[in-house]
Amino acid sequence: MGEREETSGHLPVLLAEVLAAAQVKPGDRWIDGTFGRGGHTQALLERGANVLGLDQDDEAAEAARALEARWPERFKWKQRNFKDLKICSAEHGWAKVDGVLLDLGVSSPQLERAERGFSFRAEGPLDMRMDRRGGPTAADLVNGLSEGELSKLFYEHGGEREARRVARALVARRRVAPFRTTTDLATVVAETLPHRRAGGLHPATKVFQALRIAVNREEEALLAALPQAVEIMKPGGVLAVISFHSGEDRVVKQFMRELSAEWIDTPGRPNTLPNPQRHLRDVKRFLPSEEEIAKNPRARSARLRTSIRREEVCA
Ligand SMILES: C[S@@+](CC[C@H](N)C(=O)[O-])C[C@H]1O[C@@H](n2cnc3c(N)ncnc32)[C@H](O)[C@@H]1O
Repeated sequence: MGEREETSGHLPVLLAEVLAAAQVKPGDRWIDGTFGRGGHTQALLERGANVLGLDQDDEAAEAARALEARWPERFKWKQRNFKDLKICSAEHGWAKVDGVLLDLGVSSPQLERAERGFSFRAEGPLDMRMDRRGGPTAADLVNGLSEGELSKLFYEHGGEREARRVARALVARRRVAPFRTTTDLATVVAETLPHRRAGGLHPATKVFQALRIAVNREEEALLAALPQAVEIMKPGGVLAVISFHSGEDRVVKQFMRELSAEWIDTPGRPNTLPNPQRHLRDVKRFLPSEEEIAKNPRARSARLRTSIRREEVCA
């Protein structure tokens, strides 16, 4: 782990659990849809896998080049969004793969670099785009959405219970001057929710999470990628997804549940029917150990869900 920390710049979360689920054999084909700094990919390569690494952030390129130099035959990286998983796999010449890994959300380096605008702790532009080639920034959303849209966004993606109050305050403030920096937004949210200050979380935590999810259309990408992952997996292939907040974990849980259920309830019919979409088996959930959390506090909220592609399409 120490060595990996040096090479990748951060600790890959739930790595032992991912590897135990992956059961990598030399020559296996894996897609790491969230390459980041390559912590998980490196471990897969060390076990003999071929890996296609994807990340929509151009800043992942540097770590990717290092791994491409070390494993030129077995590793390739592309700056792509994992919502195009199937196309990326086909372009790489892989019709089927042995495993797909998604380690969702932002990486520690993204959070730590103030100029990326993900953190309310350091002053930076209100950006939050993982893919800086286009798309609206967080500033575009905060300054451009209606009060109702902002309120909905903070509630749905951040679970912010005082979403309306925050949205009202932001709209009032931006009439005077638009928001440009992370700390400016964080300060106004904190001033709007003064009663929150005593608690553990910074008052702007949920607002920042919601904006990041919206800017990067994270739920949309996840919903698009999961069925594609199942489609390109060989029988016995492994799907492993690590999530960091309840919204995305719910999407993964529901997806794996629906695709592993033996029967489906059909409203209006007296009996349940065999599930024609039963493509997954052995659905499991893993949480980080206390030991991992002590070493890497970022792991605290992580949830890993794994499942295996079934042989049979129908029950
Ligand atoms: C938690 S980090 C992954 C860390 C990585 N497993 C490691 O060990 O270094 C998540 C990464 O996924 C990328 N990412 C998030 N959503 C993505 C998407 N839809 N398509 C491609 N990359 C994405 C982010 O840019 C970030 O680099």
